[in-house]
Amino acid sequence: MSSEWLRCVVVFLVSVPLVKAAQQPNIVFILADDYGWHDIGYYGSEIHTPHLDKLSASGVRLERYYIQPICTPSRNQLMTGRYQIHTGLQHAIIIPCQPDCIPLDEKLLPQYLKEAGYSTHMVGKWHLGMYQTGCLPTHRGFDTFFGLYLVYYFKADSYSLCVTRNTRAAPEYNGQYSAELFSQKAASVIENHENHEKPFFLYVSLQSVHEPLQVPDHYLEPYGFIEDPDRKMYAGMVSAMDEAVANITAALKRTGHWENTVLVFSTDNGGQTKQGGSNWPLRGRKGALWEGGVRGVGFVAGPLLKQSGTVNHELIHISDWLPTFVALAGGSTNTSKPLDGFNVWPTISKGHPSPRLELLHNIDPAFNTPKTRELRPIASGDAWSWSPFNVSIRAAIQTAEWKLLTGDPGCHDCDHWFPRPGDNTPDSSQPTENPQKPVQLFNIKDDPEERNDLSDEFPEVLNHLLSRLNEYQKTAVPVVFSPVDPSCDPDAKGLWGPWAKDASGESV
Ligand SMILES: *[C@@H]1O[C@H](CO)[C@@H](O)[C@H](O)[C@H]1NC(C)=O
Ligand SMILES: *[C@@H]1O[C@H](CO)[C@@H](O)[C@H](O)[C@H]1NC(C)=O
Ligand SMILES: *[C@@H]1O[C@H](CO)[C@@H](O)[C@H](O)[C@H]1NC(C)=O
Repeated sequence: MSSEWLRCVVVFLVSVPLVKAAQQPNIVFILADDYGWHDIGYYGSEIHTPHLDKLSASGVRLERYYIQPICTPSRNQLMTGRYQIHTGLQHAIIIPCQPDCIPLDEKLLPQYLKEAGYSTHMVGKWHLGMYQTGCLPTHRGFDTFFGLYLVYYFKADSYSLCVTRNTRAAPEYNGQYSAELFSQKAASVIENHENHEKPFFLYVSLQSVHEPLQVPDHYLEPYGFIEDPDRKMYAGMVSAMDEAVANITAALKRTGHWENTVLVFSTDNGGQTKQGGSNWPLRGRKGALWEGGVRGVGFVAGPLLKQSGTVNHELIHISDWLPTFVALAGGSTNTSKPLDGFNVWPTISKGHPSPRLELLHNIDPAFNTPKTRELRPIASGDAWSWSPFNVSIRAAIQTAEWKLLTGDPGCHDCDHWFPRPGDNTPDSSQPTENPQKPVQLFNIKDDPEERNDLSDEFPEVLNHLLSRLNEYQKTAVPVVFSPVDPSCDPDAKGLWGPWAKDASGESV
């Protein structure tokens, strides 16, 4: 390994009283970071993932599983069961010195599970805000936390910081590789949970396989055949992650917890093609509302599945885990705030049709199309004046059959189809529309690669989905995207962490 990229890890432990519970499954949720569609063995990747392949083959592979195109929004929806238009986080990630987090009046997944009698633990990356103590995982339902409040962060060229407050920074872990460290810590949580009558929820949010592209050398050995140096390094990182998941699973089996565990593996967004990832043959990448950004690798494993060894083709979204897990826990979601997720356990476990008939990918009125990529101008007067939804706004929605995108769905330079790794022949099928049409409609079931825009052929479908976007937009809360707070100064303490006073007046 070339450098000690994991320079600082935060440890925060709080004890909780033991509560007895009925037969409820343990829930282990493993989230990979920036893991691409074409980067797992079972989708034909050249990268070896024997453990993920085997584990998913024994469980249920989710073929139409969706996440959000970037980090914070996916985690936000996982934790709240609500679309980001309803939490104000529809625009972007939370930037390190922004005084933002998931609104404090949102109830998070570990809070529901704690109420249902679970021990709740988190290992890994949070990235849901940390400007005040009330935002931290241990203040939002987790009994214990070991990890990073942010992804590692480079302040200057070779200088990274991560922080917390009121907690112990753990410099003794500097230089350890996160896949190894986090899987070890996750295994410890499992091993230390000796009371088999009390269920646990363990959220393992891996740094793998997000950049920086670094991995201990021995993981690179099988990849001599990969020429692209980024792809090769990324492949090694995927192998390390594959092993990390194997080690966590082994700990569950060794301790006898496996028999009563539901394990979910999920990526947080599409792969980053600029850092070795691939979503081939899907269009676009991380950051885009194209399928390459939002359709992700995901599967469920464990002996509690009724139809194991199957592939599920039903529409399932990351916001569905909260109601699904709370139902498994025998808990209640009769909260004051309406959920956007559905309980999809009968769909996954027994193959029932998904209760989810529609999926709002996002509506982001704050997104500005870069000057270099303007949308085809809409003549004044004009072609789209009939539309119930402002088609300049970046938004996307899909049903079992259709997907509509409005505004600019892409990220910079990613509206196309990236070639299959190792394939150097140029893709002759690049989009020719430049500037883009502000509305694009695909039969996503038949055309998952989003190649044939049918917006001119199916005006009724188009009109219906535009109306649905309009309905959703009426329920949206304003975008929260605060200016960076100049009083955030990690340098002063050499740590990342809360810098603002809580409502309670608790200061740093
Ligand atoms: C998995 O466990 C083995 C055996 O303890 C260990 O050598 C290896 O480093 C672990 N791998 C990861 C990624 O944690
Ligand atoms: C919510 O559910 C809990 C547990 O089932 C119940 O005790 C409570 O009365 C319910 N609250 C509302 C507002 O329905
Ligand atoms: C439509 O949305 C765009 C982009 O957010 C905005 O600039 C424009 O003012 C909106 N138009 C109307 C009529 O609201």
